[in-house]
Order: sequence, then C-alpha cells, then structure tokens
Amino acid sequence: MAADSPFRPEIVKGKVALLTGGASGIGYGISLELGKHGASIALMGRRKHIVDSAVSSLRSLGIPAIGFAGDVRNGEDAARAVEGTVKHFGRLDILVNAAAGNFLTPAEHLSPNGFKTVMDIDAVGTFTMCHEAVKYLKRGGEGRDPSDAGGAIINISATLHYTASWYQIHVSAAKAAVDSLTRSLALEWGTDYDIRVNGIAPGPIQDTAGVTKLVLPNITKQNHPLFRFGDKWDIAMSVLYLASDAGKFVNGTTMVVDGGQWLSKPRSLGKDQVKQLSKVVEKRSREAPVGVPKSKL
Ligand code: HXC
Repeated sequence: MAADSPFRPEIVKGKVALLTGGASGIGYGISLELGKHGASIALMGRRKHIVDSAVSSLRSLGIPAIGFAGDVRNGEDAARAVEGTVKHFGRLDILVNAAAGNFLTPAEHLSPNGFKTVMDIDAVGTFTMCHEAVKYLKRGGEGRDPSDAGGAIINISATLHYTASWYQIHVSAAKAAVDSLTRSLALEWGTDYDIRVNGIAPGPIQDTAGVTKLVLPNITKQNHPLFRFGDKWDIAMSVLYLASDAGKFVNGTTMVVDGGQWLSKPRSLGKDQVKQLSKVVEKRSREAPVGVPKSKL
C-alpha cells in the first residue's frame, strides 16, 4: 500500500517529464508520483489504448498529461515523442527510460533475434531516447531558462546481472549495457551539459509484470530479507529523489531499491550455533602455542 509522500508536493513543480514505458507497471507508478509532485507528464508506450487510459487517469487527478504511442526501437517514434513533448509543454527536464522487454527462456532456446530484441528495447532504446532528448535537457537547451541547471535522466535497470540469473541471459546483458550507458553519459553529459544521469535497479515490485511474469518460485516474500516485496511507490520516491534538487549531487550511480534482495543468501548457521562455534574456535586459537600452524588447531 502506498504511503504518503515524504517529499514536498511541489518538489518537481514546473518540470516536464517524459517517460518511456510510462503508461503501465513501474513506469506508471513513477508518472503518477512525478505528476502529484508538480510535474507535467508525457508518456510513451507501444499500446495506444494503454497510453490513452493512463493519460486519462492522470488528467482526472488534475495532472497535465499527454501520450505518444510508439516503440523506442523506432528512431522516428523516439524523435516524435521528444519533439511532441517540447512542442506541447515548452521544455523537457526529466527523461525516465522505463521501457523494457522481457521473457524467461533457457539460453539455448533463445534465438539471436530474441536476444537482439531485448537488447534493442532496453539498451539501444535507452540510448536512442537520450540521444533525441539531449538538446533539450542540456543547460541552456531550448525551452530552458538561463538560470536552470541541466535536466535529469533516470534509467530503470535491474540487479540480475550483478551475479548471474537463470533464464535471463538477454535481459542481464541488456541491463548491464544500460548501467554502462548511465555511467558514460553521466561523465560526458554531466561535464559538458550539467545533465545528471542515474539509474534505479528495482527488486521484486508487486503488481508488475516483473513479478507476475518473471519472478521465479525461489524468489518469495518468505526468503526476501525484509519478508516483503516493494511497491511502485518505492521506486517512484527514488525517482523523485534523483530527479529533484534533493539529488543534485548524485550523478552516474544506479541506486538499488530491492530491500537487499540481490545480496541475500540462506543463513549458513543459526545465531546460537554460530555463538557456540565461535567460542570454541576462539578458545582453541588462544590456547595454541605460538608458532603452531593454523591447520593443526
Ligand atoms: C523465447 C522469444 C520469446 C519467449 C519472444 N521471443 N518471446 N523467445 N521465449 N518467450 C523471440 C521471438 O521468437 C523472436 O525471435 C524475437 O524474440 C522477437 O519476438 P517478437 O514477439 O516478434 O517481438 P516483439 O513483438 O517485438 O516483442 C518483444 C517482446 C515483448 C520482448 C517479446 O513483447 C515483451 O517482452 N513484452 C513484455 C514486456 C514486459 O513484460 N516488460 C516488463 C519487463 S520487467 P525469432 O528468432 O523467432 O524471430 C523487467 C524486469 C527485469 O524488465 C528484472 C526481472 C527480475
């Protein structure tokens, strides 16, 4: 259940945000909170009826919103969404790349085209959107006041490539590329244009395709370190932090918002057992004469 926001309601007031994948799932959760905190919202998504419905929902809350049906794999769609956003709202401050493709498949059953499809959506699509948006996001870019800082880019990533994940070779490779884009663009565009580029790596977020379609049976609330999954709200609050002045010195990082899930592993020993064992080992080691090799203890 979404809690009240800890941020001021006007924290992104006057800003314009464009979100790919912004009409559903985590993307919509981000659109909603950016809108509730004062931003005007432009959504881009492949399915027109989903985009239209999301725009209506935002408008019904008094949030200025427009939508573009388009695919980030199509350069013309990307350009149309960016240009259309600036034409309608006069500027662009925040780009959230949340569009993603995914399905579970054993590596040997994945065709090269299936691999490429996800690379194209996640990695190339993210770069394409950034490429189209940079001229508006940069300090002094069209529509920006001379006193404005540069804008912010936030790339939605994942944690599955930090180690290795079953049946996700394509997504792991694509999200690793996304994290690399985040760092390279943070360096180049932070330096040249005062644009901050960051990422967010969500863990299992309930009521999203990531959980309903993809989360494997071994990722359950019972073996999650916090015994719960996250909400879209958790990701949206992180975006508010990174996209607003609250995060004005954060650049080039991918913030993990997963409740500690990717770090977790089964406990090897119970707490009482480890206390006992530790006492015995310590005692032996203190009693051993100096110079006795550890292997003889
Ligand atoms: C094996 C598959 C496949 C599957 C598609 N392909 N689905 N291969 N198993 N289940 C292969 C196809 O055979 C084809 O290769 C190629 O991929 C392109 O397939 P199309 O269906 O033509 O592509 P397209 O219509 O463009 O759709 C792309 C799509 C997309 C990636 C399949 O529809 C999709 O995934 N939509 C779901 C989006 C989604 O769930 N997003 C949530 C992401 S959550 P061949 O060789 O046959 O031509 C997320 C969280 C990450 O990202 C972290 C999780 C832990």
